[in-house]
Amino acid sequence: MRDGFDVAGPLPGAGFGASATWREPGAAALVQAAERDPGALPSALAAANGLLLLPGMAGMVQAPELLLRLSQIFGTEVENYRQTGMEPHWVHPEVPEIFVVSNIPGVERQPPARPDPPLTAEGHLPVQFPHRLGWHTDQSYRRPPPDVSLFLAVRPVPRGQGQTLFADATAAHAALPAALKARIGGLEGLHVSSSAGRKRAAVLAGETPRVLAPHQRPQRQPVVRVHPVTGKPALYLCEYGQMDWLDGPFIGMQPGPHGDGAALLAELMAHLTQPRFVYVHEWTEGDLVVWDNRCTSHAATWFDAQALERVMWRTTVSGNPGAAYAGEAKSWLAQTP
Ligand SMILES: [Fe+2]
Repeated sequence: MRDGFDVAGPLPGAGFGASATWREPGAAALVQAAERDPGALPSALAAANGLLLLPGMAGMVQAPELLLRLSQIFGTEVENYRQTGMEPHWVHPEVPEIFVVSNIPGVERQPPARPDPPLTAEGHLPVQFPHRLGWHTDQSYRRPPPDVSLFLAVRPVPRGQGQTLFADATAAHAALPAALKARIGGLEGLHVSSSAGRKRAAVLAGETPRVLAPHQRPQRQPVVRVHPVTGKPALYLCEYGQMDWLDGPFIGMQPGPHGDGAALLAELMAHLTQPRFVYVHEWTEGDLVVWDNRCTSHAATWFDAQALERVMWRTTVSGNPGAAYAGEAKSWLAQTP
C-alpha cells in the first residue's frame, strides 16, 4: 500500500501483473488520488513487470476526460489521434486522445479470427504462438515507440470471449538459454504497420509491395530492450502482422518467411508466449488495464461479433523510450515541406 492505494499481485493464474484499488470507490476519486501522488501508479506498474489492473473505472464512460487525466500520470505525452491521422470514426468525439476499439456500426473494427483449432488439446484457450496469432507491442513500427497503453472496458463481451492476453517479456528474457540470450543481445528487428503490405500473409501471397512514404517505412528496434525505469532487459518483438517480412524480420539475417530470421522469430515468440509467462484477462465493465509496451506483449482474442457488441477505449502514452532513442524525431509524422 502506498498513500491509500492497495496493490496486490501477481494477477490470478499469472506470474506478473498487479491489481490496484483506491479506498474511495469511483474513477474520479482514483484519478484525484493518482494526481496527488503521481509516482504511485507508475511505480506499481514497474514493480508488476508492466501490467496493472484498475477495476471499477466505469465512471470514466460519462467523464472521458478522467481517462485522459489518468493517462497523463504515466508519461509526458498522450497521443492525440486527431492529430496523428487516425480514421475519424475511430476517435472519441470529445476527447481525441481516446481511440475507440469496437465492432459497433460506425466504428466497425472486427476482432481477430478464432485460433484453429479453437482450443488446445487440453481444452484451454490457446495462448502460445503460433497457435495463437496477433501478439504485438503497440506501435512498434514507430521510433521512438510509445511507453504505455491504457485500455478501458466500456462495454465488454461476456467471459470466455474477447479476452486480452499479456506476456511478461522481462521474465521471458530472463528464462532464455544463455546461448540464445547472447545471440540476440545486439540484434535488431524490423517492425512495420500491418497496413504497409509487408506482413507475412502479404509476402506469402506474393503481393506487390507498395511504395512507402518516409514516415510509413519499417523501423528497426532492439530485440532486447532495456527498460528505462527498471533497467531490466525484456524481449521486444511482434510476429506475423507487425514485422517486415520482406527485408526482415531481423536486420543482418536471411529475410523473408522461409529464412533464418523467420525461424529465429518463431523460436523467440513461442518462448515468450508460453503459458507460464502469460496472463489472460477476462474483462468486466469498468476494468482499466494499463500495460507497459516496453516490457510486455499482448494479443486480442476472438469474440462473436455477429451476436455481440464490444466497446473499448484506448489511450497511448509516450515520452520515456530510453537512451537509445534520445533526440530522435518522430518517424511516423509526415514531413511538411
Ligand atoms: Fe495492441
